[in-house]
Amino acid sequence: MASGQTLDAVRESAQSINDVTTYARVGTVAVITIDSPPVNALGGAVRRGLMDAFARAADDSEAHAVVLACAGRTFIAGADIREFDAPDPDAPDLLDVLARIDACPKPTVAAIHGTALGGGLETALCCHYRVATPSAKVGLPEVALGLLPGAGGTQRLPRIVGAQTALEMMVLGKPVAAAPAHEIGLIDTIVEGDLLEGAIAFARNAVLSGAPPVPVRERSEGLSLPHDAELFARFRADNARAFKGYQAPENIVRAVEAAVTLPFEAGMRREAELFQELFASRQSAALRYLFFAERQTARVPDLPTGTPKRPIAKVGVIGAGTMGSGIAMNFLSAGIPVTLVEQEDAALERGVAAIRRNYEISLKKGKLTPATLDACTERLHPSLDMADLCEADLIIEAVFEKMTLKQEIFARLDGIARPGAILATNTSFLDINAIAAATSRPGDVIGLHFFSPANVMRLLEVVRGSATRPDVVATAMGLARTIAKIPVLSGVCDGFIANRMMTPRMDAAQALILEGPLPWEVDKAMVAYGFAMGPFAMLDLVGLDVIGWDPATSTSSTVTQVLCETGRWGQKRQAGFYDYDATRRPSPSPVTEALVREFQFRAETQPRLFSGEEIVERLLLPVVNEGARILEEGIALRASDIDVALVMGYGWPPVTGGPMFWADTVGLEKIIARLEAIGETPAPLLRRLADDGAALHTWPATA
Ligand code: 3HC
Ligand code: NAI
Repeated sequence: MASGQTLDAVRESAQSINDVTTYARVGTVAVITIDSPPVNALGGAVRRGLMDAFARAADDSEAHAVVLACAGRTFIAGADIREFDAPDPDAPDLLDVLARIDACPKPTVAAIHGTALGGGLETALCCHYRVATPSAKVGLPEVALGLLPGAGGTQRLPRIVGAQTALEMMVLGKPVAAAPAHEIGLIDTIVEGDLLEGAIAFARNAVLSGAPPVPVRERSEGLSLPHDAELFARFRADNARAFKGYQAPENIVRAVEAAVTLPFEAGMRREAELFQELFASRQSAALRYLFFAERQTARVPDLPTGTPKRPIAKVGVIGAGTMGSGIAMNFLSAGIPVTLVEQEDAALERGVAAIRRNYEISLKKGKLTPATLDACTERLHPSLDMADLCEADLIIEAVFEKMTLKQEIFARLDGIARPGAILATNTSFLDINAIAAATSRPGDVIGLHFFSPANVMRLLEVVRGSATRPDVVATAMGLARTIAKIPVLSGVCDGFIANRMMTPRMDAAQALILEGPLPWEVDKAMVAYGFAMGPFAMLDLVGLDVIGWDPATSTSSTVTQVLCETGRWGQKRQAGFYDYDATRRPSPSPVTEALVREFQFRAETQPRLFSGEEIVERLLLPVVNEGARILEEGIALRASDIDVALVMGYGWPPVTGGPMFWADTVGLEKIIARLEAIGETPAPLLRRLADDGAALHTWPATA
């Protein structure tokens, strides 16, 4: 039967099981189709539909095999995460639904397109066979939500791909493309043409072969090391650093250990226990919150729906330093040509070489093909002449952090850029309205604040000036997706959201080293809390000179000022708070230690020991307070945007949910009391929410 005819036959004979499920028969093959946008998640209606449809297929004497397919953009993308906190009491349990699919006496085939993730892949694992389009991906990414695959995935996957591969897939959570999934036996066939037609043909052949189908739970020949305890010990040891602070990976390892040592049903019970433990954990609650928070940031309530976006086909970047070269890569990688402008030849060459080097590293790691590398570098047009930006649709300035320089550049751009071009600045702290005022078109000026390394970090702060036009904001928010960033909208203030939030942490850290702890001791406590790096290591990375230091006004009155004055600007000078070797590996610096001790002496403090917990509290409470002020001032749209900004931009440990979520887990009353104890005035919003018994991280309810 030709492709169109198969689909027609399905459509014509389709009967609805419920709102999201249909049942059709093509000859002797039953076709169950789920249609529950956006991603066919396993919500109550889908579970009910599957339960009833598989019962019908089992009873249908004309049906000799069953195909499970999905309409829309993807196969089932997993359990419905929204339902986790509000389960549908009338719908059947997912495990009961999957048990029914698993027990189907007729050959069952999952027809996978898009992504079969989490509970989606677990559903497919309950079918006897899986066929997929070449572009499909399959995976068990529950670890990213602080969970493990809790619908049999930890028990069934090892029975197909072996314990080691299953462990890697579940602990890393990275989806696998159809071709490698086929190689490891997870996908039985890749269908080049029409998926449904291919799946039906596969099902017919399965019937014709006459061999009784074997459910995955009864397969064990795929286990490469059924009783090798070494595998698990080795896996734990190899990944100890990556697992640190995370509960889910360890529970996944335990569940796979159960899969290879216990009978299937006992393994399922163990999986359920380990899943429940994670499900009830604070870590998983935080990660689930962040999942939706990330997807909410692009919604700007006051942007009229249908606000047009300006097409961005050519980009200009001014300044090929640390940021400019990384910023350029984002667009080159997304297929957008970039003209990179510098003031001097040597800086331009350095910038171009940095871009090439980064792409070559990706090539070596197998993340890029030679052809893609060539295409990306061919899209790059280095230049020493700003006039070459005359055709760009978007120009991003990333020169030194100096207002007069930025204003001079924007005034020049005003005469060069084509009408309608968006003029953006990557400033970290400066007033975007003052920069916009240097042009005759402040409505076209916006802040696009990338984080270092700009080609890696996923946060993009989109800073709306007082005159920025709605279509410019809408374009920037949309563009973020094109370059695989998460946009967070900010109003204009010193440091915008992320840098402003981290300033009190930095101030608290600087004050704290005068009371006893050395910079690396402070960093150690923050790393133990879960930060990727501590505040002093971060300062060194960003560059002490760009964090508001001005040689003209520097008065040697802080440790940082003295470090700046003596040229210790951080990693780029191989010296900052830490000393760095040629590979940028840090070590505690005797120079810094002597300086800190001198400042302690001058401050006449009696240095004392601080516990890690005390250090963390001293540094983070003022951050929470600043977040509340940012919300009061309307700089951030919602508290969850702040959490996303800090998790994505500053390595705030995701398992804590970010500062706003963390504050709620501590309790706002306690936060207020502790702020007062360290001499800080709590923001009025904190007091109001605490009085109302309301949460901070969901504020405001309307955004
Ligand atoms: N449950 C509920 N809603 C979901 C969802 C899920 N599992 N997955 C995606 N959505 C929603 C998103 O919130 C978003 O809603 P919105 O439009 O209202 O913001 C919409 O679907 C589209 O999602 P994306 O913007 O992420 O769309 P993309 O096309 O970029 O990505 C995707 C699609 C790859 C499927 C991605 O959404 C994704 O990775 N989803 C999560 C997959 C996952 O983690 N599955 C495991 C769930 S836990 C589980 O299954 C437990 C089980 O083991 C018992
Ligand atoms: P950098 O010093 O590494 O690079 C700046 C580049 O601009 C230099 O190569 C310089 O030659 C060039 N330049 C100066 N004047 C120019 C002109 N008139 N025309 C063309 N090029 C010119 O600085 P970095 O770190 O890249 O910072 C750039 C901007 O990005 C600053 O505003 C900074 O605040 C901001 N930023 C920096 C971050 C960081 O982590 N370094 C993070 C986010 C923003």
